[in-house]
Amino acid sequence: MQDLDLDSVTEAVIEQMATTPDPRLREIMEAAVRHLHAFARETNLTPDEWLKGIAFMTAVGQACTPYRQEFILLSDVIGLSRVVNIMHDAKGREAAGTETSLLGPFFREGAPKIPLGGTLANVSKGTEIMLYGQITDSEGKPVPHATMDVWQTNEDGAYDLQAYDPTTMDMRGQLQADAEGRFHFRTFRPLGYSIPMDGPVGELVRNQARHGFRPAHIHILVTAPGHRDLVTALYFADDKHVDSDTVFGVSQSLVVMPSTELPDAPVKGMPSIRYDLTMSRETAEGGGRVGSDPSKLVPGGRVGSDPSKLMPAG
Ligand code: BEZ
Ligand code: FE
Repeated sequence: MQDLDLDSVTEAVIEQMATTPDPRLREIMEAAVRHLHAFARETNLTPDEWLKGIAFMTAVGQACTPYRQEFILLSDVIGLSRVVNIMHDAKGREAAGTETSLLGPFFREGAPKIPLGGTLANVSKGTEIMLYGQITDSEGKPVPHATMDVWQTNEDGAYDLQAYDPTTMDMRGQLQADAEGRFHFRTFRPLGYSIPMDGPVGELVRNQARHGFRPAHIHILVTAPGHRDLVTALYFADDKHVDSDTVFGVSQSLVVMPSTELPDAPVKGMPSIRYDLTMSRETAEGGGRVGSDPSKLVPGGRVGSDPSKLMPAG
């Protein structure tokens, strides 16, 4: 029997895990153990700090519900979601394809269906703007009848899940582009907002003296058969946090400003944004997307109809 020291313990763990039949699980766990051990050695992690870390991860898990994904939020604020996004894009986004952004924790399946020209507003009130454009493939051919999910904060900077009880859907909708891939819909100008700061991730962000804000944006998810899911968002140029997004989701090509001067605007004089979307072909590795409706990550999903049963206590 060999006595373990600070280096040989890493090799001993990896050797014991070598029996893992699934080669990808073996590879991932081996790398995780190597990096975690190296992290503990590099920081000279104390027992107190190790326990603090465990208490933090426990609190992150306990904050998760079918309506809230605190682990995705953690991944977002440490830039891990962006890393996975960039690697996912490198595998399948065509050069001409629209840049992607984070799906974020507020995407919900089953948003109300709205007709072309309809509005995302269900409960909220505000001043209308319009978003319109055309969905094509990377050769410029229209993608007919692509499905678009769109969601955003209201003019007060709150998502429906934050402003109302979770059974209310507002400032989100699903629409279908026409046969030429064209779409237009009405919405309100969203307000930039703070990521949820009332949980352990918010406490971490506060302890880091970060502002915790995301610039105002509109999320878009486009799906069409034979194409890779396009998960993106449009960011408003005049938001003061456009260069310091807490979750690292902004790219220059996704920054927009409404204008009343667009010659082809569907409603003349309404502040409008024209943004054409370019989808990439689905690859052998599949389209996929980085992110999920939070209910898909909790055993049982959204069961029952009493939201109080689904929220964390306290
Ligand atoms: C959002 O865009 O809604 C979002 C993304 C990441 C973390 C928090 C919010
Ligand atoms: Fe968002």
